[in-house]
Amino acid sequence: MNEDIYLYNDNCIKVMQKLPDNSVDLILTDPPYNIGNFMKDRQTNLNRMRKNFFVGAGWDNEDYHDWLGNMTQFFVEAHRILKTKGTLIMFMSVLKVESIIELAQTTGFYYKTTGIWHKTNPMPRNMNLHFVNSNEPWLYFINDGKTGTFNNKGKLELDFIQTSVTPASEKKFGKHPTQKPVTLMDHFINLLSNPGDTVLDPFMGSGTTGVSAVSNDRKFIGIEVSEEYYKLSKRRILNNSI
Ligand SMILES: C[S@@+](CC[C@H](N)C(=O)[O-])C[C@H]1O[C@@H](n2cnc3c(N)ncnc32)[C@H](O)[C@@H]1O
Repeated sequence: MNEDIYLYNDNCIKVMQKLPDNSVDLILTDPPYNIGNFMKDRQTNLNRMRKNFFVGAGWDNEDYHDWLGNMTQFFVEAHRILKTKGTLIMFMSVLKVESIIELAQTTGFYYKTTGIWHKTNPMPRNMNLHFVNSNEPWLYFINDGKTGTFNNKGKLELDFIQTSVTPASEKKFGKHPTQKPVTLMDHFINLLSNPGDTVLDPFMGSGTTGVSAVSNDRKFIGIEVSEEYYKLSKRRILNNSI
């Protein structure tokens, strides 16, 4: 595509199996949380929203054990592709945090911590009936080592990051139902990698990780199984625009 940007419209396992050993510095990714089955019997707006947007998205409605099998393949390839002391950040549902930590540890990753992304303006869905969800966990791992790149420049960095949800200005090329804001990805890219490093997102959705990586002078490899979202990510990343 260009020697610093490689984008694939395919199943990430298939593509990851072809990437060379020890070639990636940071994996920053947001895979399907596999909560489709959990939501299935709940007659909520959220359930309807999931049906409308997630059909065919892959890995979200799977049986838990099938999902674990897929995630195991992901971790085996991630361990091989990442450099020694490379970093993996994975967004994940709180329901699945323990399963993911166990998988990562058995495939050669050192578990550092679980942090929180807090949304300052979440959708106030059914706000008079219950607590409105405003946070998503992210898990922090190091490959074959205990510490990796951490560019804090002497500043205290908390396991908590707060931003607004993705602004409309970042959706001018099209929408993705779980699109993350660029400032959120900038936080991890700048702290956990250096200019010239290679960043991989195997579940790139609308390509937010790629937009951040390229605008911060990193090389980027992105994979997306849906053709619609692959095209959207390509438009966003190649225009180097939010
Ligand atoms: C949670 S979304 C990522 C959203 C992204 N962070 C953004 O800001 O737009 C996960 C994406 O993974 C894709 N996906 C699911 N299974 C996949 C697979 N096996 N290989 C590649 N992509 C996959 C889905 O189509 C979906 O777009």
